[in-house]
Amino acid sequence: MFETVSSMILTVSMTLLWGVAGIAAAVLPYSQSNRSFKNKKNVLLWATGAAILLSTAWYAAIVLQLVNSGWLFVEGTVKMLVPLTLIPQLYIAVATLPKLKGRRSSGEETPTAATLETAAQPSVVLSFFSAALVSGVSTFSMVFAQPVLPSLFQIAYRYLLVALLLLVPTIVANRRYLKLKRGESIRRRPIARLLNLIAAGFLTAMIALALLVTNVLVGVQVSKLPEASDMMNHDWIDEGGGAATRMSGGSGHHQHHAHHSSEPAESGQVEVASLTGDISEPADRRFELVAQQKKMTLASGAVVDAWTYNGQIAPELRVKQGEIIEVKLVNQDIDHGVTIHWHGYNVPNAMDGVPGMTQNIVKPGQSFTYKFRAEQEGTYWFHSHQQAAEQVARGLFGTLIVEPKQETEVYDEEVTLINHRWETDQGDQKAFRDHDGFQWKQVKPGTTVKLRIINAYNYSEKYLLQGTEFRIVSIDGMRIQDPQPLSSQTAFQLGSGGRYDVVFTMPDQPVLFKLGDAKNENEPGTIFYAESPPENPVFQKDSVMFDPSNYGKPVMNDVTAGSHFDREFHMILGNEMGFYNGQIHFLWTINGEVYPRVPTFVVQEGDKVKTTFVNRSLGEHPMHLHGHHMTVLKKNGKKVATPWLTDTLNVLPGESYEVAFIADNPGMWMDHCHNLDHAATGMTLHLMYDHVLPSYEVGTRSGNLPD
Ligand code: C2O
Ligand code: CU
Repeated sequence: MFETVSSMILTVSMTLLWGVAGIAAAVLPYSQSNRSFKNKKNVLLWATGAAILLSTAWYAAIVLQLVNSGWLFVEGTVKMLVPLTLIPQLYIAVATLPKLKGRRSSGEETPTAATLETAAQPSVVLSFFSAALVSGVSTFSMVFAQPVLPSLFQIAYRYLLVALLLLVPTIVANRRYLKLKRGESIRRRPIARLLNLIAAGFLTAMIALALLVTNVLVGVQVSKLPEASDMMNHDWIDEGGGAATRMSGGSGHHQHHAHHSSEPAESGQVEVASLTGDISEPADRRFELVAQQKKMTLASGAVVDAWTYNGQIAPELRVKQGEIIEVKLVNQDIDHGVTIHWHGYNVPNAMDGVPGMTQNIVKPGQSFTYKFRAEQEGTYWFHSHQQAAEQVARGLFGTLIVEPKQETEVYDEEVTLINHRWETDQGDQKAFRDHDGFQWKQVKPGTTVKLRIINAYNYSEKYLLQGTEFRIVSIDGMRIQDPQPLSSQTAFQLGSGGRYDVVFTMPDQPVLFKLGDAKNENEPGTIFYAESPPENPVFQKDSVMFDPSNYGKPVMNDVTAGSHFDREFHMILGNEMGFYNGQIHFLWTINGEVYPRVPTFVVQEGDKVKTTFVNRSLGEHPMHLHGHHMTVLKKNGKKVATPWLTDTLNVLPGESYEVAFIADNPGMWMDHCHNLDHAATGMTLHLMYDHVLPSYEVGTRSGNLPD
């Protein structure tokens, strides 16, 4: 972030300075006296000096970023922008400046014809203009088209762009030079000069416009989503540098068909629909969730046009570890269909609730039954995965609490706190469930209280828990071993979709819990009190931010930073001005692309897989992998003290993480940003086991729209 902003300031200033130098160079040949020639040249030299200084600072900043953050952060810049800016600058240094040097004719009043002729050489003015232009292109790239793993084509395209924009100036400069050479005067009346300038500017603008229009037309076409796709596009796969899989192109290539084609699958292949796990036994618990539109009133009276399960805000499903649960989803009146995805819960693939990948949408009047064994205990949540950005925002979510078979620690009180942001008739309102203000809860001193905190909002949230020491005992449903007590000065943060279980023992004084900072009073919270509710609970400013990378004991499993990995993927998170499904959009990209052009990660069952997240973009991205928990091994290139398990890892701008998982849950799984608005415009990819065949299709034809 800081790097981006400072780089932008540097490149904008460079553009301006090169522009000034360029204008000075352009008017140099019109000098009528030695003095005016000298003045113009001085402006040119000063601007050039300053611009070169800034470029040096910029290159230094890039090197610094390389040292601090690593190659993946600067690769695109180094491959695309550095050469682009370096070429004209070097040319100016070694060719242009020497030409202008020593041509200062002393004594005579007017500069000699030779001096003016040299100054009028097209290469002089063009070198400055191109320096200005490429600096401008670089600035643009910081925000609107970050160079992430640029292809040769993209690099060449930038050069072509610059060349086309310099076309008219080249012609003008050339004509002027030839005139001077023939001994003709280039001096014109001011009005004529102005008209010429306008004409040249107009032509260049037309070229720019033509380029823009072409770009838009191509972008609109290319970005249109296919009407149907079954996720088996062999053009865009990434095997993570590992052994060739069944999906590799070439001879072993075979056709896959959705919808149960009659030809038998190759041996060892399975269809998604058959990946249900063993559910032959009858269910231990049954639930029914009816998706329905309903006006909901928050505690403050604000009204939400909500879409709900069972007409409730965040209904709870509570089961015991080991039980087989059955959830019948009925769609009453949600027009575009619904599903249920068990966020973070590692269910068999066919129960994952992703439209077009693991099932078809449940249309109004239809139903679908999920059945799986609740293998893992912990705090989870569920939500519709059909057009999730809209459906989750509107309220199609609930909590899934799986009580452990054996509780190692008993809690007297347990509170689930799921926060969201509602669009109400009185504006946007943050709330825990429907409580958009404070809740008050009486608790006897000495009781142990467990809070299950879930962030169901698209952005990360900060939480304060004050008046007591506390421990964070689980992250994303996974227990922390030996969690040490944290002081009440500690704040903690959850990325979208993330969960913490927090435990404290009720003291005599009140315990204060809230969303956000101590200051802001519009955020909801809960006050726990022993005797009588405190009149005026005051939150203190927090001084420490909880850091999961150094807490409790390292998780023990089969992946460590030193493991040998069968496949290594990277996900470089960037942003770009571009097109999505035929419309112009600010895009959040993975490896420079948006879905469906982000290559599918292909793995084989049993692989040890490492993924590196690199956030080069301007926003945070809570990266969520379905069907697996990821072990966090490194942060910003350094091993973390306590590797931990997560299913949704919030990656801040400028951060990088290395995570690993074992491919032990066959299927096709989404791997996406849980800022669902980002996912909806393409920040999504898929993890595919190479022996799994699709059973469904995504797209408008089927109505399965998983984002
Ligand atoms: Cu909670 Cu694919 O998401
Ligand atoms: Cu994102």
